[in-house]
Amino acid sequence: METLLDFLSNISWWLWIIIGLALVAIRDVLFQKSHTISHNFPIIGHFRYMLEKIGPELRQYLVANNRDELPFNRIERGWIYASAKKENNYEGFGTDRDIYAHQHIFINNAMMPYQIPTDHPNNENHCFLPCAKIMGEFNKRKKPFRPGSVINVSAMSFGSLSAKAVESMNKGVKMAGAYHNTGEGGLSPHHSHGGDVVFHFGTGYFGVRAADGGFSMEKMIKLVEDNPFIRAIEVKLSQGAKPGKGGVLPGAKITPEIAKIRGVEIGKDVLSPPNHKAFSNVPEMVDFIEQIAEATGLPVGIKAAIGKLEQWEELADIMKATGKGPDFITVDGGEGGTGAAPPSFADHVSLPWVYGFGDLYKLFQRKGLSERIVFIGSGKLGFPAKAAMAFAMGADCINVAREAMMSIGCIQAQVCHTNKCPSGVATQSKWLQNGIDPTLKSVRLAQYFRTFRKEFIEITHAAGYEHPCEFTMNDIEINVDDHNLSKELSGTYGYEKTPVPFNGMKSLQDCMYLGGNK
Ligand SMILES: Cc1cc2nc3c(=O)[nH]c(=O)nc-3n(C[C@H](O)[C@H](O)[C@H](O)COP(=O)(O)O)c2cc1C
Repeated sequence: METLLDFLSNISWWLWIIIGLALVAIRDVLFQKSHTISHNFPIIGHFRYMLEKIGPELRQYLVANNRDELPFNRIERGWIYASAKKENNYEGFGTDRDIYAHQHIFINNAMMPYQIPTDHPNNENHCFLPCAKIMGEFNKRKKPFRPGSVINVSAMSFGSLSAKAVESMNKGVKMAGAYHNTGEGGLSPHHSHGGDVVFHFGTGYFGVRAADGGFSMEKMIKLVEDNPFIRAIEVKLSQGAKPGKGGVLPGAKITPEIAKIRGVEIGKDVLSPPNHKAFSNVPEMVDFIEQIAEATGLPVGIKAAIGKLEQWEELADIMKATGKGPDFITVDGGEGGTGAAPPSFADHVSLPWVYGFGDLYKLFQRKGLSERIVFIGSGKLGFPAKAAMAFAMGADCINVAREAMMSIGCIQAQVCHTNKCPSGVATQSKWLQNGIDPTLKSVRLAQYFRTFRKEFIEITHAAGYEHPCEFTMNDIEINVDDHNLSKELSGTYGYEKTPVPFNGMKSLQDCMYLGGNK
């Protein structure tokens, strides 16, 4: 034994390396069958897998140009990070964008910007920017709601996001006077830190589920009674990243707490069905919306990604004939994010926001319904110029999901579906979440929202207006092709927006239904 140990200890380090490599080579060639490359190129084949694994990081940090990446390029991410940290988010030397490029947006500035009168709410608060419309006003709901901010946190469930991320967002929206959409995972204690909440549910009915897996009105009523900070309810029909596919929460992310809130098994994938049990056609959906609004007194809306228009046409006809229907419609773009979706869906099913929203708005406007609906847009709209375009097209508010995630530290690792999110935002790993300090991150979210609103107000003033609801389709131009390089939105998308009744920012400030920090 001693001689063997002596012999081993006399082997030099480089010989150990050679022995190690020889063992790896033997394993590669003789014992593993799953990787052809490492079988055919023992040892060096492993470098290919290593490089493939760290390729995204290498490209993100070293190789990609500032404007190269998707979904959000480095400049866009940098603007959110700097705004959230209240750092210098300016650009020096002029734009680095090719402003002649296809789809580039231009905002037509006025010769002289809007001048703020001395007693104007924006003199006191540079980021006061509530929604110009009231949810539930037309349908005379018992508890109408005017969102206190035109930018809000979009549907993202506790489950897809970590507890600390949800808590940071809720505390952040409270500071910023915005609302927090729960996403499909039900209302959790992490959504209950004082911010306005829009309760959202999909086909899984998490939080309002009956024993048979359908919708429970009793639970809905109790939820709203117990949680008066719920200001509106959103029924999810579909989302841009996976229309026609129900929610997906991978088993790796189902902790005992999430299992309890959702009423599902720990560690097992949760796949919600594509269809609702509570209704199976458009008239039934309208009845369902009315029943919830009647029982809770809250405004009720729907969220969807847009493709075919026949059923929307049917909805509009019913709304016109009956005077009933959703108080708000959230239109998600095909470019929208998700916690987990098949790439074929994320890449190809449903229209990009501008096309989907334009088609839908035109349809409702044709029926004379655009004034009574609060239109909410989501799909990479969390940048002031993009928001100006959305408002010019008819949006009244925007919801942001990934931009909100970035404001609290998401680095676009794109691994939300694996439970390995390195920033702790989209994982249930306790260790990874521990890096998030909700006290600090809530301030970051609030600062991003405030900076966004401040810049949005400044752009609005530059165009000669007081509130972005006054943007018209002719205020924004977009590059469409080389021949007719830039075209007004009205020419590109073929409609004029219905003017939003607006009697000055002061009237919004005095509104009794105003949410946020009054
Ligand atoms: C992690 C994550 C979870 C999401 N969960 C939901 C959800 O539960 N319900 C839903 O309707 N949309 C969900 N979405 C979609 C967003 O609410 C939003 O519509 C979409 O990402 C577009 O906004 P964005 O471009 O600002 O991210 C989720 C998105 C992300 C990134």
